[in-house]
Amino acid sequence: MNIIVTDSPEQAFRKAVDMIACEVLYNPHPVLGLATGRTMESIYRLLVKQYEASALDFAATTSFNLDEYVGLSATDPNSYRYYMQEHLFEHVNMSTSQIHVPNGIAADLDLECARYEAAIEKAGGIGLQLLGIGETGHIGFNEPPSAFNSRTRVVHLDEITRRQNSGMFGNDPTRVPEHALTMGVGTILEARKLLLVAVGKGKAAIVDDALNGPLNENVSATAIRLHQDCTVILDNAAASIWKNNRSNALNSIP
Ligand code: GLP
Repeated sequence: MNIIVTDSPEQAFRKAVDMIACEVLYNPHPVLGLATGRTMESIYRLLVKQYEASALDFAATTSFNLDEYVGLSATDPNSYRYYMQEHLFEHVNMSTSQIHVPNGIAADLDLECARYEAAIEKAGGIGLQLLGIGETGHIGFNEPPSAFNSRTRVVHLDEITRRQNSGMFGNDPTRVPEHALTMGVGTILEARKLLLVAVGKGKAAIVDDALNGPLNENVSATAIRLHQDCTVILDNAAASIWKNNRSNALNSIP
């Protein structure tokens, strides 16, 4: 695993954008796995800037988002489909047919999950999967416990996650949907490259659990350590506990 620690969140976002740009520039048919959350907003802002400066072209890019709330339609401002439209899709040259976000209002949610898996496979698999990390250690919405071989499915959202994500819902966790559709940990691990980005002191403890803690289905982000080509980009604040524990461990080697 390649772990990069930067001096500021801005530098972390720039490095992440460089990696995404490489994927888009050097593949004839790039397939990106996309994530949501506050961390990603800055990354999408920089990607849009590059597109506007003609440094990037998304015409051949296909995308698959990690997750979506159950019960929210694409036109609901709290849905991830809406978020993606607002932060990325409406600003770059990707057509609707290239964009995939799980449908949270599908009549048959299990069928929707199977359809999503099939669509990823038909696209040739995901080239680069972008990941954030939630307070529960989730990647996508893989709440504890999530089997490392889990696939796209309906999940029950943890109370911690509903609280963490309540900002978009008037700071009222009870308004955050109780269920979501998410790519499974197994689905995520099949991407050819993983890129996890975390910034800020608030992420330091869970980043340490993910990178230093035991491999553990209660912290789905620990699974990224099983991947052959995984990059983690952190700012100093998010890396602080991990760095400290790592140097303590090194110092205790006799
Ligand atoms: C949501 C998403 C996750 C993301 C997390 C982090 O829960 N489902 O995929 O990693 O938010 O969000 P933030 O960047 O706002 O901390």
